[in-house]
Amino acid sequence: MLDTPHKSKSYADGKILQEITGGIGVITFNNPDKRNAMSLAMWEGLGLALTELRDDPDVRVVILTGAGDKAFVSGADISQFEKERHNAQASEEYSRRSAAQRALLADYPKPTIACIRGFCLGGGMLVAMLADIRIAADDSQFGIPAAKLGIAYGYDGLKHLVSLVGPSWARLLMYTGMRIDASEALRIGLVERVLPDGELWNATMEIARAISHNAPLAIKAAKITIAQVLKDSGDRDMAAIKDIGIACMDSEDFREGRRAFMEKRKPQFQGR
Ligand code: COA
Repeated sequence: MLDTPHKSKSYADGKILQEITGGIGVITFNNPDKRNAMSLAMWEGLGLALTELRDDPDVRVVILTGAGDKAFVSGADISQFEKERHNAQASEEYSRRSAAQRALLADYPKPTIACIRGFCLGGGMLVAMLADIRIAADDSQFGIPAAKLGIAYGYDGLKHLVSLVGPSWARLLMYTGMRIDASEALRIGLVERVLPDGELWNATMEIARAISHNAPLAIKAAKITIAQVLKDSGDRDMAAIKDIGIACMDSEDFREGRRAFMEKRKPQFQGR
């Protein structure tokens, strides 16, 4: 299963690329001339790529990355604002059109990793924060310049920002619109690991491979349970945690994991 041949596709006129290699899905934001700024078409393309990788049983983990060496994503495409986001009503519609894709990423059933080099700003920070794990190159820069543009950053983004860096850093970043470098991002918990640019991709793939070799149901259980921990206690779905726990303990993979340990060999997990 993990030796799936390499498959490529593209969406949004080639501005969203999708690849699958060896159980790992890769989505690339491919608009390097605009520092990978996200248009609505790119949000829609991202949604299509996420859906396809979600529904492909061979894909165990998804990496999100930016094309070129300058940016992960430099935020929403500001050139669309005059037409698509010029007042509250237009902004509501703009937000509605990307909401389904944001929700898809927020509730994605498979593990996601943001592999970040260069600028990661505004909506790019949202994409990175909605991913499960963030690995960054030492030249990356992070910021949410909403206050410099007069934009109210939405609930999803701020919820994730506060849960990652705490309310004080969230306020400092939001009130000033400042950019911080990779070492500061690492120190405040915005990213999990920082590497020299030349090592970034291999390091990200190493994590993705480790995930792809582990038991998918056990990873799903961790993902579901951590998501519930982050909710207010009244909103937690404890039944979902129980159900995935039962699915794990009754799974063929749990039997395989036990057997492989006793037989001193690597387990071959099927995800069931
Ligand atoms: N939307 C639309 N176009 C963007 C963009 C964005 N978010 N970010 C960059 N671009 C475009 C620039 O307009 C420029 O286009 P041009 O070549 O036609 O002039 C091109 O990308 C390169 O950007 P430039 O500013 O020349 O590159 P830089 O390396 O000096 O700076 C950034 C890169 C990302 C720091 C800078 O472009 C910037 O601040 N972008 C806006 C970031 C932002 O406010 N994001 C939040 C949006 S809600």
